[in-house]
Amino acid sequence: MREPIIAIDGPSGAGKSTLSRLLAERLGFTHIDTGAMYRCVALAVDRQQLDLADVAGVTRLCDNLTIDFLRTSAGQTVHLNGEDISSAIRQPHISLLTSRVAAIPEVREAMVAQQREMGQKGGVVLEGRDIGSVVFPDAEVKFYLSASARERGRRRFEELRLAGQSVDLEQTIAEVEERDLADQGREHSPLVQPEDAVLIDSTGLDIEQVLARMLDYVAAKRPQGAGA
Ligand code: DC
Repeated sequence: MREPIIAIDGPSGAGKSTLSRLLAERLGFTHIDTGAMYRCVALAVDRQQLDLADVAGVTRLCDNLTIDFLRTSAGQTVHLNGEDISSAIRQPHISLLTSRVAAIPEVREAMVAQQREMGQKGGVVLEGRDIGSVVFPDAEVKFYLSASARERGRRRFEELRLAGQSVDLEQTIAEVEERDLADQGREHSPLVQPEDAVLIDSTGLDIEQVLARMLDYVAAKRPQGAGA
């Protein structure tokens, strides 16, 4: 029996990245940050100054992108056609462009195909917005992580500030709300909570508490003897 596929969905700033990373580390699973993949497409669109209305051009671009996640001693890095773009894809203007890029059906099709390829063997933690609903609807474990928009905006603000970016708290909260609306309101694969997902609201909870809850749940779903 193979190891499970773990799907983690939820809005931005709900703690998905940190928890997916920790969960994957603790289980020895591969961590696939699908948001980073859409960010890579947005970065390439931005660099090539492509018009998003040029769907054929954007589709061609997606077909020529090689996205790799590499494990280093400093954590996981994201590479686009061999270049480490881990920081470049986190710039606020790329975040906003990513919401628009991720709403293009052809982009989603290309990314979903890559994500299925990367995850099909199991032993993976995939984080995103549509993992449990579209990418792997049969995933053995599905979590939906949430937190209030204010709390999520505050967390994103701290993250950006620590990364040395000059940001404004209220503006960051407004951007989180704007992205929520775009992600939930889009026609193609909007952010939804799958019915069979375990809901965890992380407002007021610390990372260790949430992680312990997730690990307990996963333990019950793993093949007998695994991870013992
Ligand atoms: O998780 P994140 O903030 O890095 O995601 C960046 C953007 O990509 C965000 O606007 C939501 C979108 N996204 C998506 O539409 N589907 C996914 N599976 C992952 C992210």
